Amino acid sequence: VSVYLDHNASAPVRPEAIEAVAAALRMSANPSSVHGAGRAVRALVERSRTTIARSICARAEDLIFTSGGTEANNLAIHAAVALGARRIVVSAIEHDAVRAAAAASGLPIDVWPVATDGRADLEWLSADLAKSPETTLYALMSANNETGIIQPYAEAGALISDAGHLLHIDAVQMTGKVAFDFAGSLATFAALSAHKAGGPQGVGALAVACDAQVGAVITGGGQEKGRRGGTENVAGIAGFAAAIEAAASDQDAAARIAAIRGHAEAMITANASDVTLWGAGVDRLPGTLCLSAPGWSSEIQVIAMDLAGFAVSAGAACSSGKVRKSIVLEAMGAAAQDAASVLRVSFGWTNTTDDAEAFANAWLNDYARVRPRAAAVNA
Ligand SMILES: Cc1ncc(COP(=O)(O)O)c(C=O)c1O
Repeated sequence: VSVYLDHNASAPVRPEAIEAVAAALRMSANPSSVHGAGRAVRALVERSRTTIARSICARAEDLIFTSGGTEANNLAIHAAVALGARRIVVSAIEHDAVRAAAAASGLPIDVWPVATDGRADLEWLSADLAKSPETTLYALMSANNETGIIQPYAEAGALISDAGHLLHIDAVQMTGKVAFDFAGSLATFAALSAHKAGGPQGVGALAVACDAQVGAVITGGGQEKGRRGGTENVAGIAGFAAAIEAAASDQDAAARIAAIRGHAEAMITANASDVTLWGAGVDRLPGTLCLSAPGWSSEIQVIAMDLAGFAVSAGAACSSGKVRKSIVLEAMGAAAQDAASVLRVSFGWTNTTDDAEAFANAWLNDYARVRPRAAAVNA
């Protein structure tokens, strides 16, 4: 039996979300239709919008449903250009969805460095704001997908909005995991994704501050107030809202999951002193454990753990599943051998302390076999 420890890639769908998806599929009408059946589906979409918006302190009318986090990030950058952005500053640890969308905009791009603790450098930001005459979009994620490190996005938002510039927060990894206050962040945009929260894949949302005019990337029938064409993914949206509700009602989840993660970390660090734990000293997503085991490549660790019955990740993988060098750890100043030997274990709502213990035992067992060889190579 395989133990699933890859919640940051995609969380198992919550039963409440499965129910909500099935119920929505049974409704079968177009939410734009004027008849009663259509109005019932519209009401479901709007109830879901309110639930999700409330969970991040946004107004329902400021939430645009999309096909997921990637589309929401693209829509934010497209909208920022329309709002007059003439330059984009992306943090050094952004997800490809933000980096690629920024590159596609054709605007000049600058990179916002992170300190060695993995948090975006606010002094660098202040200096950049002071010499930034043109409207600039700053892109900073709320929490990193590889390390789980929580970014100083609210402090950044205050500085950026004071200076009259724009902030986009990729809040995909926080969706349904820890509280995210969109209004309080003073950001212009924030991207969410349902499948990181135990909702279905292929649905997400972009929150926009109420004064932001958004032009569609996907044009069509004028849905989402002309901001995203196409009949809404009603079942996905209903499942997204149900997942958010279920996550919100599981109030001690963050503490429980952090304790599970802590158990695995304590076992590993007590028995493998040469391991580096990333983000150990700063605020992190409760379930993310990111480590480097020098000499044991990410790819081989993932395969070894898969054989042992644990689904984990190398942190940096592209859609083909090929493992890449971690740009996140490089940005934190990690040595090349640490960036090449990173493993990401992400616990979530399905996991127990037994899962953490079984994983740590299996990992330590394999590492004890690999370590003598790794030490010889590193010497
Ligand atoms: C930080 C971050 N942004 C964006 C995405 C993309 O979201 P989606 O899979 O919903 O397109 C992911 C998912 O891997 C992510 O971790």
